[in-house]
Amino acid sequence: MSNKDKKNNSLSITIVGASGDLATQKIFPALFALFSQNLLPENTLFFGFARSTLSDMEFREKITKHLICRYTPEHSCERYMSDFLEKCFYCQGKYNSVDSFLDLYTLMREKNVSRKSNRIFYLAIPPDIFSDVAKAIGDSALVYCRDDVPWSRVIIEKPFGKDRDSSDKLTHEMAKIFTEEQTYRIDHYLGKEVVQNLLVLRFANQIFKPLWNSDYIKKIEIIWSEDKGIEGRGGYFDNYGIIRDIIQNHLLQILAMVTMEEPNSLSAREIRDKKVKVLSKIPPLKIDDILLGQYVSVKNDNIQLLGYTNDPTVPDSSLTPTFAKVKLKINNKRWKGVPFTITAGKAMKEKKTKVKITFRTPENNIFCSLGSCPPPNELIIRIQPNEGIHCNIVNKIPGKKLVFHEQRLDLSYDTAYTDHVIPEAYESLIMDIIDGDKSLFIRKDELQTAWDIFTPILHQIEKEKIKPTPYSFGSTGPKKNINE
Ligand code: BG6
Repeated sequence: MSNKDKKNNSLSITIVGASGDLATQKIFPALFALFSQNLLPENTLFFGFARSTLSDMEFREKITKHLICRYTPEHSCERYMSDFLEKCFYCQGKYNSVDSFLDLYTLMREKNVSRKSNRIFYLAIPPDIFSDVAKAIGDSALVYCRDDVPWSRVIIEKPFGKDRDSSDKLTHEMAKIFTEEQTYRIDHYLGKEVVQNLLVLRFANQIFKPLWNSDYIKKIEIIWSEDKGIEGRGGYFDNYGIIRDIIQNHLLQILAMVTMEEPNSLSAREIRDKKVKVLSKIPPLKIDDILLGQYVSVKNDNIQLLGYTNDPTVPDSSLTPTFAKVKLKINNKRWKGVPFTITAGKAMKEKKTKVKITFRTPENNIFCSLGSCPPPNELIIRIQPNEGIHCNIVNKIPGKKLVFHEQRLDLSYDTAYTDHVIPEAYESLIMDIIDGDKSLFIRKDELQTAWDIFTPILHQIEKEKIKPTPYSFGSTGPKKNINE
């Protein structure tokens, strides 16, 4: 924590939308994890704000169900939990009502939150009400105008609009209340441990630095899949689809971290400048660069797995893609001619997120003259599950004959770091917000650049009503490739 913040050790964290899934399943458990490690400022209080009528006790019961003692030895956990819950209060109100946020302010005063305490507002609500809520918070004079001491910060989470125009509009509306400096746009994938490690892997290891370009790298693939279907989230998902839900944000961010130039320092400005620079070199996608899919029902071991349009929350005629594979390129010197493929699919065979980097095979390899060329090296970054990094190298099988064998050099976090708990993405990101470190948050121009890559294709898909290719629930996606 910076010295500036140490002087002001009083903080209120208001979670708007406190009874929803994001708040109860992700945000409160993350806050508790930080609390139980004594990482939060001494006088931190938590205020839940939502429409449902709940007493403090009922609210506490709701969040307790999801609190996990990952950091505390068993015997002290109960104490931490009751200390934490005692600091959680609930305010019932309407999202667009100034009076309701004035009630929140009254509650804060009753709980002795100092007028000079720092304030965080976490908008864990659907994006279409972000600006109304921000306005109500602003009109109730809860936001300090400067990002100084005391400060106010707002946290919002994607989807930030549906295309470049709607995203710009949202940014513009939010900016009437919170400055860009006060705004923290979360992409929770940037908080994942292995994603945070990408800069270290690339720039702290001399063995990788010289190889990280088109002279040595043949192709890069980012692969994301989930083994679950939409499970009643159709109201949200059907309006967005897999490109807006996963690719335009989470996977594009990973791509930026894998391909950006080395920053001159670790400052948030430097890192984000370099990310924007590389993203701005990706030309907008064309229809031939994309394959869309939608999962359909299948019977597995006598269990019927329902297709996307069988979900009661999805219209029968929906053309929304639940799978997409996109091919893109980066028009700069480092990545000239290297193909990048991003694949994302719901209701697939397994849950995984990984980056696969395939290296070129050496030209004029001496072994090729013996009739068998060695396979290319691969570096695989496993973001989840089984966090780790492995490299496939070519080895000789012991014995007199020369027989190649691809062997794995494996760094698995679960065996390499047995004494460490891997923090949840939200824990790292909330801590950064308290510290005022913006390096892992999406800046306005970065968001615009990301939308520019996808907006034309999204409009074309919708205008031309392009039909996604069916694939079976639990499979590896459509049995087709881009351009077929
Ligand atoms: C969210 C998407 O951003 O990320 C969901 O809206 C997706 O559709 C989720 O399931 C995946 O997050 P994680 O951390 O479980 O990989």
